[in-house]
Amino acid sequence: MRQFIIILVTASILLGWGKTGHRVIGKIAEENLSPEAKEKITQLFGHSDLASLANWADDIKSDPAWRHANDWHYCTILEGKEYEGPDAGGRAVQKVTEFTDLLNKGTLSEKDQKDVLRFIIHIVGDLHQPLHVGNGTDRGGNDVKVTWFREETNLHRVWDSQLIDHLQFSYTEYAQQIQLGITPAEKDTLTNPTLLSFVYASKAVHPQVYDIGDGKLSYEYIYKNRDLLDDRLLKAGYHLAAILNDIFK
Ligand code: ADE
Ligand code: ZN
Ligand code: ZN
Repeated sequence: MRQFIIILVTASILLGWGKTGHRVIGKIAEENLSPEAKEKITQLFGHSDLASLANWADDIKSDPAWRHANDWHYCTILEGKEYEGPDAGGRAVQKVTEFTDLLNKGTLSEKDQKDVLRFIIHIVGDLHQPLHVGNGTDRGGNDVKVTWFREETNLHRVWDSQLIDHLQFSYTEYAQQIQLGITPAEKDTLTNPTLLSFVYASKAVHPQVYDIGDGKLSYEYIYKNRDLLDDRLLKAGYHLAAILNDIFK
């Protein structure tokens, strides 16, 4: 029993955006894929529904064969420092780079192409969750105890899922809402992202994310952070599309 509880607690610490968040990002990305990328992804999976592929990397965490991949979902930039690589904690940046290179080389088996693609779809999303770019002091906010409508939780979980779940949208509704009013010019500025640029953008919003007052979070925190949440999900979708379009051009 004790062991079971420890496994449960560990699993809850390591998850990324919740299921809806990853699906929203997948949906937005799919709507912005080039015809070439869409065709290649359809060849591999029989469809190009990225929302349905976006949570696989979390689902496999219950498979001991994938335990080595548990730290592929986040990275760390120490306070006042530049990104210094995975030794600071978390391999997300390293893995997206490595997997993009592998797909570009074109030497992977079909199974490995599928695995690597599902990881890219997921990890690019995670890296837009501000607390998946940790500062090395509180495990990406997992150690920051807060309440959410009086329920005990932590800041990381609020950002992974509780903010999103509170909105009560389906993932398709939310993906549509987020994209309302986005102009083609705005889209264009987002089509050439470097991996580190959006990692730093996640880091840059920490002052706002950590502005939690007495830690009793509810309507006011949502009101203050809704635009930021939408922005992170929107950019995750566009950046993911840009990365996939670049691989499959
Ligand atoms: N564990 C340690 N740092 C983490 C982070 N930034 N996100 C998720 N899990 C973590
Ligand atoms: Zn994740
Ligand atoms: Zn998370």
